[in-house]
Amino acid sequence: MSEVRGFRDAANQSMVLTALYIAQEQYGHLDENALERVADRLDLPISQVYSTASFYSLFHTEAKGKYHIQVCEGLSCALCDGADKLVEYLSQKLGITAGEVSPDGLYSLEIVQCLASCGTSPAVRVNDELYDDLTFDKVDRLLDQLAQREEA
Ligand code: FES
Repeated sequence: MSEVRGFRDAANQSMVLTALYIAQEQYGHLDENALERVADRLDLPISQVYSTASFYSLFHTEAKGKYHIQVCEGLSCALCDGADKLVEYLSQKLGITAGEVSPDGLYSLEIVQCLASCGTSPAVRVNDELYDDLTFDKVDRLLDQLAQREEA
């Protein structure tokens, strides 16, 4: 009997990332209600679910903009002189600082650690899409593309 429970616990733990991803898709972000639902569904302590959600930059426990822009400040990105300048540039363009959401709810900005694109740094992620080898010109084109999506 305990062997079955152990297998079920392990199976539920292995589903945490997937469940959090789905919950974030459904709720927009992982607020307390979303985290409780995941914990209940997988029969896991909410502390475990919260610690997983707060560890990965892919998950957001607070409301974000429609386009959530994450700028990497990991070592490779910092060494290529990208992170600080990109954050400053994006802040000026969007009128928000890291941790804020634009008044229209379209953009939010966050500084994160490695986005697993060290070889082509500096890197930025917008929602689930990665953009690397960034320059200010590329950032301008990216922001133009996002604005065009809104006009379409
Ligand atoms: S340090 Fe920026 S992508 Fe790895």
